[in-house]
Amino acid sequence: MTMTNAVMSAMGGQMHHHTSVFNAQTPQAQSIANLFYIDLAIAAVIFLTVTALVIAAVIRFRARPGDGEPYQDPGNPKLETLWTVVPALILLFLLVLTARAMFIVNPPVGTRKPDVIVVAHQWWWEYRYPSSGVVTANELHMPAGTNWLLGIQSADVIHDFWVPDLGAKMDAIPGHPNVLWITPQKTGTYLGTCAEYCGAEHAMMGIRVIVQPPEEFAQWEKAQLHAPAPPVAAAAVRGAGLFEEKTCMNCHNIAGTKARALVGPDLTHLADRDTIGSNLIANNLTNLAQWIADPQSLKPGCNMPNLRLSGAEAEDIAVYLESLK
Ligand code: CUA
Repeated sequence: MTMTNAVMSAMGGQMHHHTSVFNAQTPQAQSIANLFYIDLAIAAVIFLTVTALVIAAVIRFRARPGDGEPYQDPGNPKLETLWTVVPALILLFLLVLTARAMFIVNPPVGTRKPDVIVVAHQWWWEYRYPSSGVVTANELHMPAGTNWLLGIQSADVIHDFWVPDLGAKMDAIPGHPNVLWITPQKTGTYLGTCAEYCGAEHAMMGIRVIVQPPEEFAQWEKAQLHAPAPPVAAAAVRGAGLFEEKTCMNCHNIAGTKARALVGPDLTHLADRDTIGSNLIANNLTNLAQWIADPQSLKPGCNMPNLRLSGAEAEDIAVYLESLK
């Protein structure tokens, strides 16, 4: 199976979400969209006016047989002033609108601490909720109707966090924390992507934001703090053993177990997630087993190695991980 076929088949049946800068779902995204519409309207008027004048001039003043040297205009101070001042005023108007949009999108932070910290990694997203201590990966949960401050940071790569429906783009730069305000108004799942070329995985840095009613979000956050129940089913028990033995635990954290590493995504509640591989494929047993057996077949260039597991071993580990709720 080629890589594309593998991903296509793994994606089979996954729900489609449309994402678009025209589908603004926050005041921040709306102000960016409004600015775009105004810019577009003004640019369209200028384009049509200039085009019409050029066409009119070409027809009206075209050279005819027998014409001599055309009239040489030595200059017209009034006209020249006019076509300097008018564009300057248009640009000034757009500058004011842009500054206003920038203020709506990124108002001063003051002493406010981020509600969630987005940490960019090669090649995944980490989400840390400082007030509760919850740490999760690749799927960002947020409460609807709340003005949230996102801290945008990076461990080892420059990504650009962008969820078009929800707001502006913001670079994640190592050693230079940024912030981004998002006020989601409607519950739902919003998709985004890395918006700046960062390397081999650039096209596979999907972002999935789940905006929940505040009570549901609070429940989710509370549930995240509990370590998952130890595995019961035989395959899951075998999988948990393999997870330690086959060195998975050298990269991943699972609360309540010996796996404490923070190199790869936190897997404590992996079974709660809709997708794996940064919104790459649906999170189900088949896909997860294939991912564990050969991550490169689904996400070439990702940093998870092929551990040469047998099919049965990969399956047992997948069963274990899918029990982590
Ligand atoms: Cu990260 Cu492009």
